[in-house]
Amino acid sequence: MTPTPSRTSARILHWDGERLHVLDQTRLPAEEVVLTLTGAEDTAEAIRRLAVRGAPLIGVAAGYGAAMEIARNPRPGPALARLAAARPTARNLAWAVERVAAADDARAEAEAIAREDEAASTALSAHGADALEAALPAGPVTVLTHCNSGALAASGRGTGLGVIAELADRREVHVLACEARPLLQGARLTVWELRRLGLPHALLVDSAAAGLIRRGEVDAVVTGLDRVAANGDVANKVGTYPLALAAGAAGIPFVAAGPSSSVDLSLASGDAIEIEERDAAEVRGALPADTPCRNPAFDVTPAELVWALVTERGAARPVTRETLAAVA
Ligand code: MRU
Repeated sequence: MTPTPSRTSARILHWDGERLHVLDQTRLPAEEVVLTLTGAEDTAEAIRRLAVRGAPLIGVAAGYGAAMEIARNPRPGPALARLAAARPTARNLAWAVERVAAADDARAEAEAIAREDEAASTALSAHGADALEAALPAGPVTVLTHCNSGALAASGRGTGLGVIAELADRREVHVLACEARPLLQGARLTVWELRRLGLPHALLVDSAAAGLIRRGEVDAVVTGLDRVAANGDVANKVGTYPLALAAGAAGIPFVAAGPSSSVDLSLASGDAIEIEERDAAEVRGALPADTPCRNPAFDVTPAELVWALVTERGAARPVTRETLAAVA
């Protein structure tokens, strides 16, 4: 099924009651192209190629994709299974498909997931900003973030970037955005959002971050998250773990923020989180086609490196099984 593109200054995700309209994030910032999705297969394809991305937004889109499939297909099972498996790491994807598939009213359930996600973004942004406010030095601060965890990655304000935007409502915040390989989600998407938010910012290559943190140029690191295991280990965009190591060594907070729908208490530790390995072509670029490449899309940060894990239910700090369970 080919999604229908159109050009307009678009909302990031819009449900018209029958069809799902999403901004194609692979085309930003150059173009705002809207895709209209009609069922599980085209929704899965949009998720797979990162046209729709970010754990919470993947969950919201997948919920609608499942509902559309159920409405039109008398035997939706195989298509729903393919949708649930489109990307393995973010918990929200399979979680949303299972939730909609089990509901009496699939469409109402998908709409509920979207409403809950927006409310979660608002609440967790406030909890994260509260925790940081209490710990940061007075005056202007510099916060570093990775990948994109803003309004393009979740309903409402976002998660990691939602926390930063909320903090910026309360005090002067300068944002350092890592570019994030392989598809430059930070450079293309976070910078696009920061411009729209009017927040002062600078882009840096991922490998510059640890050095700037060591030099004392960063007051806190704040990211989103894709899946959290029961012991508080956090999977997020590849490159997050080195940021947490650098933050720990420098004694600054590392905050991971996301909705409780990303917490997976069925997994004992981060070792059990499946890490998506993407197509080598995303890394290889113009090199010869037989160039061996690795392309893990995520890494796992151990709980002890996470200063605070924030959901809509509050901030777990320090992160232990018990404090996580209270916000899961
Ligand atoms: O591969 P992506 O772009 O979907 O990865 C996104 C991230 O790692 C985000 O930090 C995470 O999904 C949280 S988004 C609110």
